[in-house]
Amino acid sequence: MVSPLGPGLAGTRILLGISAGIAAYKSAHLARLLKKTGAEVRVVMTEGAQAFITPLTLQALTGEPVRTSLLDPEAEAGMGHIELAKWADIILIAPATADLMARLAHGHADDLLTTLCLATEARCLMAPAMNQAMWRHPATLANADRLGELGWTLLGPDAGDQACGDVGLGRMLEPEAILAQLLSELEPTRDESPEVMPLQRDLAGRRVVITAGPTREALDPVRYLSNHSSGKMGYALAAVCAERGASVSLVSGPVTLTTPPGVERIDVTSATEMLAAVESRMPCDLFIGCAAVADYRAASIGEHKLKKANDDSGLTLELVRNPDIVATVAGREDRPFTVGFAAETQTLEAHAGSKLERKRLDLIVANDVSREGIGFGSDDNAVTLLWKAHDQTQRHSLPVQPKAALAGAIIDHIVSRLP
Ligand code: PMT
Repeated sequence: MVSPLGPGLAGTRILLGISAGIAAYKSAHLARLLKKTGAEVRVVMTEGAQAFITPLTLQALTGEPVRTSLLDPEAEAGMGHIELAKWADIILIAPATADLMARLAHGHADDLLTTLCLATEARCLMAPAMNQAMWRHPATLANADRLGELGWTLLGPDAGDQACGDVGLGRMLEPEAILAQLLSELEPTRDESPEVMPLQRDLAGRRVVITAGPTREALDPVRYLSNHSSGKMGYALAAVCAERGASVSLVSGPVTLTTPPGVERIDVTSATEMLAAVESRMPCDLFIGCAAVADYRAASIGEHKLKKANDDSGLTLELVRNPDIVATVAGREDRPFTVGFAAETQTLEAHAGSKLERKRLDLIVANDVSREGIGFGSDDNAVTLLWKAHDQTQRHSLPVQPKAALAGAIIDHIVSRLP
């Protein structure tokens, strides 16, 4: 059979595991999509999954009997569980609940699906799906890390509205996105051509928090202090980290950009709100402060629109210092690898170097924002990375290129220095 997506998954034997999450209803559509690529699909459901979707639905869609129990003599007589584990080229679990992740991370074999996963030599992938607080729980994140070490590839989770009414990172990727990521995961092994770059998953299991865009500091109900940041650089970094397997929270000032796939976005306005949102996502493994945060805010915000004086006298605003977000993160006891940016218009490296030390950063990205065509608002950028090694400041310059490509180069460097 020829797949409508090209050679894709034609003939590939996929064991689709379904566990007990509300997203299980989407697994029917996923099974159809997988079948359409020409894959052979067999479904294994946990006991709880059957409360959300019936085995009969999956049987009708795949044309194969659905397995639900390890202790089913009739099914075992047809194809024993070890035979089934050997049959699979790929095990894809969607949705993978927090409980299933925990059981797999600890090598349990207490039902058919977990037993198959222990017995298989197939490529194993899962699409986690759970409430956002469950996903952010340190136990789940530790299990995600462990699963990465055990060779699992995690697809997602995605961010957005959840069935329980919460909003955040934890919902299952849409079936089309799961299929697309599955195909790109298999790309390096399917295509030996040297031009094809293998997809890097070097941030799998890592938690990354990134700030992007400007902050707005209100003066009165209609006016504010701000700057020209468009968010493009920070969003490009978030997209790269998510593509490379990290679970990414993007704390964003007011911008007009769309959220990169698989990224949790938290919208804020002021520096104070940005700090609170960042702290709500701690601890993490990597923090990148790319936002252009206002250093000052009004000492008091007018309740009504400030009125112009009747004479020619000017207006003096009293400003107070905003908290320094990147320095606060770097000062935490459980500090992540902390990267700051420095937007400078003169003596770039000297100013950036002093921010590196003063804010106790692991790395600073020096950005000359006086140069035409780079920096604020532009699609391109060029930066110099500065960090300390053996008491000496080290530097590495990255030439002008689109912000998406530059983000990849910055992340390459950060990954090489991550503990
Ligand atoms: O958003 P774009 O249009 O794509 O533009 C990208 C950019 C020019 C905004 C970006 O590349 C950049 O340089 N960001 C840092 C901007 C900035 O505010 O730099 P700074 O030198 O004032 O601040 C130094 C560091 O401290 C930054 O990491 C900043 O996020 C952080 N900071 C500053 C003040 C504050 N109160 N809290 C902070 O965390």
